[in-house]
Amino acid sequence: MPTDPIFQPLHFRNLTVKNRLFRSSLSGRFDHYDGSGTPLRIAWDVKFARNGIGTIISSNSPVDPRGLIIPNYASIDRDDRIPFWRELAKRVHEHDCAYIVQIAHSGRQRDSGGIEFKKGVSSTSKPEPIHGLECEKLTVPQIQEIVQKFADAARRAREAGMDGVEVHGCNGYLITQFLSSAINDRDDDYGGSLENRARFALEIVRAIRREVGDDFHLQFKISAVEDYDAVLPWLGKGNTLEESIRVIKWLEEAGVDGFHVSSGASFPHPRNPAGTMSLKDIVGTYDSIISSGKHTFRNYLAFRTFPFNRVFKWQWERLAKRMKVEGINLEDARAVKKAVSVPVIVTGGFQTASVIRNAISNGWVDGVSMARTLLANPDLPQMFAEGVDRPPRPCTYCNKCLVNFLENPIGCYEESRYPSRETMIEEIFSVYRLEPEFG
Ligand SMILES: Cc1cc2nc3c(=O)[nH]c(=O)nc-3n(C[C@H](O)[C@H](O)[C@H](O)COP(=O)(O)O)c2cc1C
Ligand code: SF4
Repeated sequence: MPTDPIFQPLHFRNLTVKNRLFRSSLSGRFDHYDGSGTPLRIAWDVKFARNGIGTIISSNSPVDPRGLIIPNYASIDRDDRIPFWRELAKRVHEHDCAYIVQIAHSGRQRDSGGIEFKKGVSSTSKPEPIHGLECEKLTVPQIQEIVQKFADAARRAREAGMDGVEVHGCNGYLITQFLSSAINDRDDDYGGSLENRARFALEIVRAIRREVGDDFHLQFKISAVEDYDAVLPWLGKGNTLEESIRVIKWLEEAGVDGFHVSSGASFPHPRNPAGTMSLKDIVGTYDSIISSGKHTFRNYLAFRTFPFNRVFKWQWERLAKRMKVEGINLEDARAVKKAVSVPVIVTGGFQTASVIRNAISNGWVDGVSMARTLLANPDLPQMFAEGVDRPPRPCTYCNKCLVNFLENPIGCYEESRYPSRETMIEEIFSVYRLEPEFG
């Protein structure tokens, strides 16, 4: 272990973390409906911190109530949220783990926007095509307000004692809606050319730097390849790797300290989180968002009806069948790493020490992030430290966790990984037993 590349510290310009393993954003609906944080979220994040992960990236934290992806996620949109985040940082730091807040705005891609705002906002006035989530096109003054909200959120993270922020610039949320050639249909300074589409992201980064100074860690999560047409083939493809790399270089110049490489211009997307799709589980939870969009009822019926459900499943899984899930974004991240001088981490299926070690030793990336794979095996860092190459009960990439989180507690719902259904439920409920410690 002393020489294992996985367990070497990683030095960003403004932050050093103890190893190369990051917990990628992942959580359930743990918090109050109004966006105030709860002890349960603290228990959740501490569970990973105490199992040896070097850095935790929070789940998406809205910078604005209109930008929430789904209610019951802790927000960072007001100064009175700071004490909660301060407590969370303190608890995680007790385990020698760094904590980075992911600052986010949903734009039009909201699983459920909550009761405050009926419509989302976007770079366009066109509804999101898969679920038909409606939106209003942002005016330039509104864009500038949101830019400032990102900067204010970063300032709050700093005041709370967090180790940095990650700008949620990927997976189809508001920043992707500006960056993407397949979504952004504006004809003003924020649309058209790549330079114009990147303006919003660059203004956010510069505004954060103005607000927090030059010595606070700021990383950017980006979908290097958008593949927007992966589910609905009549949509545009979106940004290519080459286009994203040009944007990434501008972002680096503007003050970004590290990049987190993801993929897909929607969430979920066949590439992210890549794997299979359980129709039974979708039918079980999709009903909770039936009134969110113009196509949600249609989709719900399709998920229940043969042959539409089979066609959807085939379309969804074909990409992950063609590409290996573990390291699905590694080649893209490698290209990003060649183009920048700041550290690059990558998300997508990592759970084998030798795969991760190889990627780091070869200089392809500086670290990896893990979400479902840690959900399945929270003690994965410890296993790696003890010399285990791959956990005995690995994540199967079945995505049942993803589909269940809309309605049910977050957890690994792959029954085949447990001796019995009771054990699975017991494991899912285990986080609630940790809660009183913080109550
Ligand atoms: C239930 C669930 C919630 C997620 N929430 C977020 C999020 O809030 N922000 C984000 O950038 N990614 C989110 N992701 C994506 C993960 O962080 C990660 O990038 C992706 O799942 C691929 O990594 P994995 O194969 O290790 O799961 C989520 C994934 C899952 C399964
Ligand atoms: S339900 Fe479990 S096995 Fe399936 S993807 Fe999620 S964590 Fe992995």
